Amino acid sequence: MAEPRFHTIATLRRLKQEGEKIACVTSYDASFTSRLEEAGVEVLLVGDSLGMVIQGHESTLPVTVSDMVYHAACVARAGRSALRIVDMPFMSYADTSRALDNAARLMAEGGAHMVKLEGGRRLCPTVEALTSQGIPVCAHLGLTPQSVHQLGGYRVQGREPDAARRLLEDARALQQAGASLLVLECIPAVLGGEVSRELEIPVIGIGAGPDCDGQVLVLYDLLGITPGRRPSFSRDFLADGGNIADALRAYVEAVKGGQFPAPEHCFS
Ligand code: KIV
Repeated sequence: MAEPRFHTIATLRRLKQEGEKIACVTSYDASFTSRLEEAGVEVLLVGDSLGMVIQGHESTLPVTVSDMVYHAACVARAGRSALRIVDMPFMSYADTSRALDNAARLMAEGGAHMVKLEGGRRLCPTVEALTSQGIPVCAHLGLTPQSVHQLGGYRVQGREPDAARRLLEDARALQQAGASLLVLECIPAVLGGEVSRELEIPVIGIGAGPDCDGQVLVLYDLLGITPGRRPSFSRDFLADGGNIADALRAYVEAVKGGQFPAPEHCFS
């Protein structure tokens, strides 16, 4: 059997140019990694959401670099085709030297292809330092869960004109600093579309509307097994019946076909 193609940042840039939506899901272990790749997911995110959905914490703040290395390595052992992005956890990139050391661990021990950082233009020097060492960076704007206490809760960001303008400027600055990819979380759908059209790099949305270049969901939300209330921007793809493989394929098809996110998953 032919080995599946290995997706790279070049694949994602091509998909953006061709207008094909990128399908991304979080993964934290080997078995789900195989199933997600079989379903056609191009990007796997080893998200620090694992602090909440796997470790049972109230936020992502307690997650350590060692936790991320452990889960990233589980994913990497099974990974055959998807681009693997690994979150840098809270405070692990608070200065450039820490960011370089910790990103090196995520790449060398965890098999990351790219690291993700939460925050705006203040991170430009860190992004420059990482990319100059050959470490690709995904930026993350909008609702940045590591700053939940500063944001005053898990709320939609960028609704006011000033906040929307700042977010767009942050996105441009991070692209200029060398970020290869951007995640936008919980912002108005109109702003998600504007940032995606404005940037050359691919933009992956979660609660950021249908006009982003791709979509990401937390795996356990997509399967409807996250305890508590499901975020309004997500959809339980297992609810319609079938098995896990069917649900993952249905997600990829809905993203590619533009049926997900639907208006009820978007913010204004
Ligand atoms: O940690 C995570 O799963 C994430 C996604 C919500 C984008 O950062």
